[in-house]
Amino acid sequence: MKKMTREKPKTFHVKSFGCQMNVYDGERMAEMLSAEGMTAAQDGVDADLVVLNTCHIREKAVDKVYSDIGRLRRDDGTRPMVAVAGCVAQAEGAEIPRRAREVDIVVGPQAYHRLPGLIEKARKGETALDTDMPAASKFGALPSRAAQKRPSAFLTVQEGCDKFCTYCVVPYTRGAEISRPWSAILDEAKALIDGGAVEIILLGQNVNAWTGEDDAGSIQGLDGLARALDRLPGLRRIRYTTSHPNDMTDGLIAAHGEVEKLMPFLHLPVQSGSDRILKAMNRSHSAKSYRDVLDKVRKVRPDIALSGDFIVGFPGETEADFEATLQIVRDVRYAQAYSFKYSPRPGTPAATMEEQISAEVMDDRLQRLQALLNEQQLAFNQASVGARTSILLERPGRHHGQLVGKSPWLQSVHVQADGARIGDMLDIDIVSAGPNSLQGDIVKRKAA
Ligand code: 5AD
Ligand code: SF4
Repeated sequence: MKKMTREKPKTFHVKSFGCQMNVYDGERMAEMLSAEGMTAAQDGVDADLVVLNTCHIREKAVDKVYSDIGRLRRDDGTRPMVAVAGCVAQAEGAEIPRRAREVDIVVGPQAYHRLPGLIEKARKGETALDTDMPAASKFGALPSRAAQKRPSAFLTVQEGCDKFCTYCVVPYTRGAEISRPWSAILDEAKALIDGGAVEIILLGQNVNAWTGEDDAGSIQGLDGLARALDRLPGLRRIRYTTSHPNDMTDGLIAAHGEVEKLMPFLHLPVQSGSDRILKAMNRSHSAKSYRDVLDKVRKVRPDIALSGDFIVGFPGETEADFEATLQIVRDVRYAQAYSFKYSPRPGTPAATMEEQISAEVMDDRLQRLQALLNEQQLAFNQASVGARTSILLERPGRHHGQLVGKSPWLQSVHVQADGARIGDMLDIDIVSAGPNSLQGDIVKRKAA
């Protein structure tokens, strides 16, 4: 029997969930679909093709994908072509179209450069599933970077994880650790700068494990890469995320005191303050070794803003273990942080550990931890009041004439634009602070 062929999609919408690496992948998919002659639609319902670029890190993130798929049906009963990309695609594969019949394409995070071919298959009604983790990197097969809409651009330099923390799906969904080559990264950075980026945020699941050979054949780490980026004209700011404590080399720590464009901000997850739990998590660092790293970083960059990730309610976590987490937070004093209730992920060792913690206990611990973290975030912001600093204007604010920029310490700062534009770097005086943002007055415009 002859199958119906659907029309080639003319418009697309990419919706990314989860981490910044997913946002980056979403941007690269959008650029590729544009290069294929499709145009971006404003929202999902109108688009001919909807790509849901999914996250598998916690159960809630997965539930969100399925509820989003359900909402794609239009009033007239038709629906767009639906592609599920990202980490849910990798983890659940063929299970997705079985559970959600609306799904036409399933494509994993290492295979999305082959999306155009999958669209063709889906048009013909064929199974369009690709969750391969090919040895060759997808990056070479993607079109070069388009002009940037925002002055701050993501650049994935490292992917995957070999650390196998017992709670985490990343080693299964993103595969083994790989570092992109030095020259590919510098070429992409230059293209981003030419396209209008003034800040580059280097991304990787273990970004500080990045390693590669420079043009002279010397082995470099992330610090070497930061130093090379620091020399690129037009670039003003460099950031990186997310890091593992064990990969904070002395060279990278030193770079925080020396590389001018490297911003004074470090996201370094500890997950728990209890050595017993850290061991069960297979984190391969202790609370003390983590603190030692932060002490060293603070020595070379005393004003550094520290951020972290925490999991409460990991299997077996006692009140004393949780108290150790509160204690490390009290001692470190974070500028901001993310905290989560433990979510058992199928296929990970922790999911089948005994002594899973009840929802009530997890709720209670999360509330107590977040109360402390929020207090610290407010205190950090309040300590900025009265300071003169630079901000990079990144987006319009909610009120007329207002723009929102980022301080070097990654705080959002609201200013009255007063002729300034998105992409400008300005000197400002910080006049007030709330838990989530600062207010500032523009001092003077810097010459571009
Ligand atoms: N449950 C809860 N939080 C998790 N994270 C990773 N896996 C889980 C899980 N199974 C958190 C960690 C990690 C962040 C990205 O998400 O804190 O650093
Ligand atoms: Fe989510 Fe991890 Fe995949 Fe990022 S890498 S999208 S955090 S599961």
